[in-house]
Amino acid sequence: MAILTVERLSVSYPSEEGWVRAADEVSFTLEGGEIFALVGGSGSGKTSVALAFTKLLPPTARIGGRVLMEGVNLLEMPPTELRKIRGSRISYIFQDPASSLNPVLTIGSQLIEAIEWHTPKRSAQAYATAVDWLKRVGIPSPESRMSSYPHELSGGMQQRVMIAMALSTGPSLLIADEPTTALDVTTQVKVLRLLRDLQRALNLCILFITHDLSIVERFGQRVGIMAEGRLVETGSVGLLFQNPTHAATQNLLRCYSLLSLPKRES
Ligand SMILES: Nc1ncnc2c1ncn2[C@@H]1O[C@H](COP(=O)(O)OP(=O)(O)O)[C@@H](O)[C@H]1O
Ligand SMILES: [Mg+2]
Repeated sequence: MAILTVERLSVSYPSEEGWVRAADEVSFTLEGGEIFALVGGSGSGKTSVALAFTKLLPPTARIGGRVLMEGVNLLEMPPTELRKIRGSRISYIFQDPASSLNPVLTIGSQLIEAIEWHTPKRSAQAYATAVDWLKRVGIPSPESRMSSYPHELSGGMQQRVMIAMALSTGPSLLIADEPTTALDVTTQVKVLRLLRDLQRALNLCILFITHDLSIVERFGQRVGIMAEGRLVETGSVGLLFQNPTHAATQNLLRCYSLLSLPKRES
């Protein structure tokens, strides 16, 4: 079943030379329970597409096309309605967890706030749910961690907290925009494994945005390749690696195999 249908989505930003088109008539469908990897080089428009779904773009940006969830176009929804969808039905995690967390609030209070905001739970219940989520995302001693401040946690642990916050409200779609790019390789692998386990357990749909083909190879199921604002190719991960048809995809793969050569030799 389709969770989200994106139809001819365009995003433009004003510049001194006129409108810059960051996304150009992008269309694709996200199915329930799948991991769809949106892949492309820096500046290819991936983040603009993902933020446009729930109008998280700067107010000067121009958005065209439709984003349908259960037949309703999110782009035409009143702001208050859309705010309810964002966080409860569609959650986001970003590259830098430190900038998404409030530095002066404990992670426990931020998690409780997210849970109470989206679900009518009383404090004691919200507290228990928050501890439970910290446990689920692999935070050691979750009860005592509730009173930690973000800076007391490593980057990997901060990202686990963000995942807990994003999933605690029971979304059907998680948008993960370069969620492991700021982490060291070992932590990357652990966080990816966690995301995959949660995705399976919750039958979650993940839109996984990355420039890193090594992650796509291990983690993705279906892939869409972005280049210069266009979605140039979509297909299964295996097919795309074996038989890329678009020049942009071939280019990404060529760079990837060049980069991964030394690793293979050692
Ligand atoms: N807030 C903004 N204002 C103006 N231009 C922007 C803004 N955000 C992104 N862009 C431009 O839009 C294009 C696509 O950016 P982005 O969606 O961030 O790509 P990606 O996530 O693939 O790196 C780039 O050329 C970028 O410079
Ligand atoms: Mg981006």
